[in-house]
Amino acid sequence: MAQRETWATRTGFILAAVGSAVGLGNIWRFPFVTGEGGGAAFLVVYLLFIALVGFPAILAEFVVGRRTERNPVGALLEYGGNAWKYVGGIFIVTGFVILSYYSVIAGWFIRYAGEGLRGSYADHIASYDGDPELMFDTLAVGLDAFILHTVFMVLTVGIVALGIRKGIELAVKVMVPAIIVLLLGLAVWAYTLPGAGGGYEYYLSPDFGVIADNWVELLPAAAGQAFFTLSLGMGVMITYASYLGKDRNLAKDGGMIIGFDTGIAFLTGLVVFPIMWAGDLTDPGEGGPGEIFVALTQAFAEISGGQFLGLLFFATVAIAALSSAISLLEVVTSYAIDEYGVERWKAAAGMGGAIYLLGVPVTYDLVFLDLLDLFADAILLVFGALMLSILVGWIAPQMAVDELEKGIGELGSIGTLWIWAIRVPIIIVLVVSLYLGIVDY
Ligand code: PHE
Ligand code: NA
Repeated sequence: MAQRETWATRTGFILAAVGSAVGLGNIWRFPFVTGEGGGAAFLVVYLLFIALVGFPAILAEFVVGRRTERNPVGALLEYGGNAWKYVGGIFIVTGFVILSYYSVIAGWFIRYAGEGLRGSYADHIASYDGDPELMFDTLAVGLDAFILHTVFMVLTVGIVALGIRKGIELAVKVMVPAIIVLLLGLAVWAYTLPGAGGGYEYYLSPDFGVIADNWVELLPAAAGQAFFTLSLGMGVMITYASYLGKDRNLAKDGGMIIGFDTGIAFLTGLVVFPIMWAGDLTDPGEGGPGEIFVALTQAFAEISGGQFLGLLFFATVAIAALSSAISLLEVVTSYAIDEYGVERWKAAAGMGGAIYLLGVPVTYDLVFLDLLDLFADAILLVFGALMLSILVGWIAPQMAVDELEKGIGELGSIGTLWIWAIRVPIIIVLVVSLYLGIVDY
């Protein structure tokens, strides 16, 4: 391997990690998974998972990456011994599968940005008889979806092939504040809509009976979403932390990344659910992958300046998706470079091409989307996270605590608490989720 790079600026790492974390998981996936989970009850379970599982788990990936300064396969081999490289291999497969459909969905966002540019939200809704769900189903597959999937993968491969870190850092610096401002504006506007109240009720006032009755579905869905949204369970955070200086306070960085990611997901819910209720769409469990498009197209068709806002919003999300897609392809690519000595551009193009092909069926039938998303999220991600928890919690905990203490200082009983959080509760949650996920699949 050539000399290891480190992040150019102190904020480079945070920006890249936030860029990876903030993406379609927050804006596309979060609202519909919340809808399928019954709204507020899901939100409560999800937030608990982020704090109690996501935070300790992101730290586990950080310490393994920074300790070994390697890609996921090499990192696990060095941290745990020879057999662990296969777990690293699973990480690579997970990234491969996720990116294949992630790109198709990013293509939808580009498409809806284009509709804003053309000024056609209202026309579209009218031409589908005021039925935005039908509109989404019609637009989601077909030639356009195929072309935009192609465009998005070419962009992703191009950036990773060039290895432009400046490009990523700059994009994230502009993109994260832009998303927050746009979502805040939309949330305030949604609040003024007549009929929006039911949406808040659904999203914010949990019925704990729902949790008790549905935990078999809620648990794996919330765990899967927590890992997906934080880019965990497939080595992104290992890879990004492998470029990190020893003086960083990993707990602080992790907290910040999680704060941004959770805040943006939560805000998205404050936009989507009130708008849906105001538009008389009161069964978000039915919305599925089209939910965000359905709700927002309806909104943008109505509000003044909606075309422009829509263009801005969907384009920003597409850029957020790009910075996540880059992190996914970077893991797969760095593996090919490190393990097989392939040149960077060849690795990016070869892996990107194969990932692209796996995504193509999704542009013909959304059944493939459900299949791939469930498989990658409820099974592969959770399994990867489980193995890493066993490694850090049981096999080599002292190494983890030592590494975390660099840049923080003596952790004492807090370090012990962290390791025990990984050892028992997190592992139990992951085993149960994995079991339920497999049964469900
Ligand atoms: N965290 C990203 C999102 O929320 C998705 C992702 C998952 C990216 C896993 C990298 C690795 O959109
Ligand atoms: Na996310």
